[in-house]
Amino acid sequence: MNSDFTEDFSSFFQVKTVDDCTIDTTMSNNLRDYLHIFDNVLKSEELEHLLPLLEKSEYWKIHEYYDVMTDSSESFDNELSCIYDYLEDYNLVEISKVIESRIWFAIKSYVHNLKFPWFNNWAGYSQIRYNRYEIQNRMRVHCDHIHSLFDGERKGIPVLTILGALNNNYEGGELVMMNNEVIELKPGSIIVFPSVFLFPHLVKPVIKGTRYSFVSWVW
Ligand SMILES: [Fe+2]
Repeated sequence: MNSDFTEDFSSFFQVKTVDDCTIDTTMSNNLRDYLHIFDNVLKSEELEHLLPLLEKSEYWKIHEYYDVMTDSSESFDNELSCIYDYLEDYNLVEISKVIESRIWFAIKSYVHNLKFPWFNNWAGYSQIRYNRYEIQNRMRVHCDHIHSLFDGERKGIPVLTILGALNNNYEGGELVMMNNEVIELKPGSIIVFPSVFLFPHLVKPVIKGTRYSFVSWVW
């Protein structure tokens, strides 16, 4: 069947003002340019305070992947564990709030450095979630289309991912991103990247020690 594209879809297009059409859309075509690492987001003494609290916390739960197609969650073998809600653990509240305040500056900096006149409005970011990878634990390849961020009241899309490294006294557990690049993050550093499907990532199995990290998503 033939259809007149202009006629059928014209209602999808909004009339642009002259100003909109003259915005400079210069940008890098290299996806690697959209990974931004911030070092020293957490100081060594803060890490030394936080890590024992994570080690002794009783609020670790097996990680689950949410599937929007089936509206269900599932875990796999050798799944990592998460502290989904640090507010459950009194000991973690203060330091977690500090981390979240630092994240705000990283997001502001990331968005500013993009210099995209069409993108400066993000609504917020999620409470940090801690991740623990014990021996053989891993994160399967995925992208961060985190549908479960939106519960009906919160509206938006995942825009940016923030991943923070908390230690390095383990083996394995490499963070691998697109084009099989291993991303090295020092303890206390974070990486910020777009949460879209163009930025797949995984964590290889830990083979010695325990790997700790945290994550937050901007919407
Ligand atoms: Fe992820």
